[in-house]
Amino acid sequence: MNVLVIGSGGREHAVIKSIKKNPAVETIYCLPGNGGIAADATCVDIGAKDIDGIVKFASENKIDYAIVTPDDPLVLGCVDALSAVGIPCFGPDKKAAIIEGSKAFSKDLMKKYGIPTAAYEIFDDMDKAIAYLQDKDMPIVIKADGLALGKGVIIAETLTEAEEAVRSMMADKVFGASGDHVVIEEFLTGPEVSVLAFTDGKTLVPMVSSMDHKRAHDNDEGLNTGGMGTIAPNPYYTADIAKVCMETIFLPTMNAMNAEGRTFKGCLYFGLMLTPKGPKVIEYNCRFGDPETQVVLPLLESDLLTVMQAVTSETLADVEVKFASDKSACCVVMASAGYPQSYEKGYEITIPAAVADSVYVAGAALKEGKLVNSGGRVLGVTAVADTLRNAVTAAYEKVDTIHFDNAFCRRDIGQRALKALQE
Ligand code: AMP
Ligand code: GLY
Repeated sequence: MNVLVIGSGGREHAVIKSIKKNPAVETIYCLPGNGGIAADATCVDIGAKDIDGIVKFASENKIDYAIVTPDDPLVLGCVDALSAVGIPCFGPDKKAAIIEGSKAFSKDLMKKYGIPTAAYEIFDDMDKAIAYLQDKDMPIVIKADGLALGKGVIIAETLTEAEEAVRSMMADKVFGASGDHVVIEEFLTGPEVSVLAFTDGKTLVPMVSSMDHKRAHDNDEGLNTGGMGTIAPNPYYTADIAKVCMETIFLPTMNAMNAEGRTFKGCLYFGLMLTPKGPKVIEYNCRFGDPETQVVLPLLESDLLTVMQAVTSETLADVEVKFASDKSACCVVMASAGYPQSYEKGYEITIPAAVADSVYVAGAALKEGKLVNSGGRVLGVTAVADTLRNAVTAAYEKVDTIHFDNAFCRRDIGQRALKALQE
């Protein structure tokens, strides 16, 4: 089988390492991939947003199955375009990917179908948005409507900050057209949980829960990033809470998308907050999370490609999706100093062969045969162990064997979860 994976991050590397285990897989192509993924797949320099280029490549290279992982190509209709030329795909079509592509859509969906989320209003007029803010409790949350690389969310502590956030999105267009509409919503509190779920529109199977660490620095300080590390399972996500989420959030969301004529097939990501009033949805993503995938897939005992193909053929109910119940995983992201703002590129990365299997490369390129950093988030380093504490320790032991100049990572990945286990 020839498999095509679209994307270039640590998440795609984790997907590729996982599908490689299936003996039917002969060749894996990754578009565009990166210098580290090149060790596990044939990388071809076609961008993830170049839908025509992707379809042309897939048609010419006898691709049997395509996995579209990032948000941009999904929202642009990559799955629709590949399906139109007869290539089976994993991932939602454009109509369903709107669940991530537009926060206004997802908020209205939740309101219409009674799915718990923060109270909100949507504005397309800046003056009205600013007038609305005047008598609201602070902090308050301002979100740009469209995709903004996870950065289009501002938590304003004061009215002045909130007004500035609205102006920056709606007048200064710091997130481009994503700021044509803004969502203003109630500030929620509580532990955050990420739950990825396989769904074919008929059946929904949640994967093991995880916890992201979004701020750049220890103790949740610094700017928001794409994610600096993850652990799984998330100790806050008890069996009782999982049951409530299945009944009040997961299945209602699958059914709501069906009722809207937007059946979602793929990996649906639920970003949840466990508030004092119960679990609520912070955001939906139409794809695997990054770096959640780097802890979730190492705990998957079933064959990933088989599960994905079952999603495509709408036979998910017939396959087993099993996760290790007695193991934990921790992924620590090694980034370039300065991320998520400016950083220097081109430093050589050395990864000892003994740990290479558990390294997921995100932002690195091959230069004269050497791996060098080329992005903000450079690597994710994962360890799996019998306990969360051992997984955290083992992940940092691996991190400490890897070197590149100006590397930094958070040193507290998993600490909040470990504390929760002691409570
Ligand atoms: P999002 O891109 O929607 O996941 O938001 C990024 C981060 O902002 C989330 O992971 C939360 O930590 C925070 N956030 C988003 N919405 C809210 C909210 N309504 N209340 C509190 N925090 C929020
Ligand atoms: N780690 C958060 C995301 O993938 O959106």
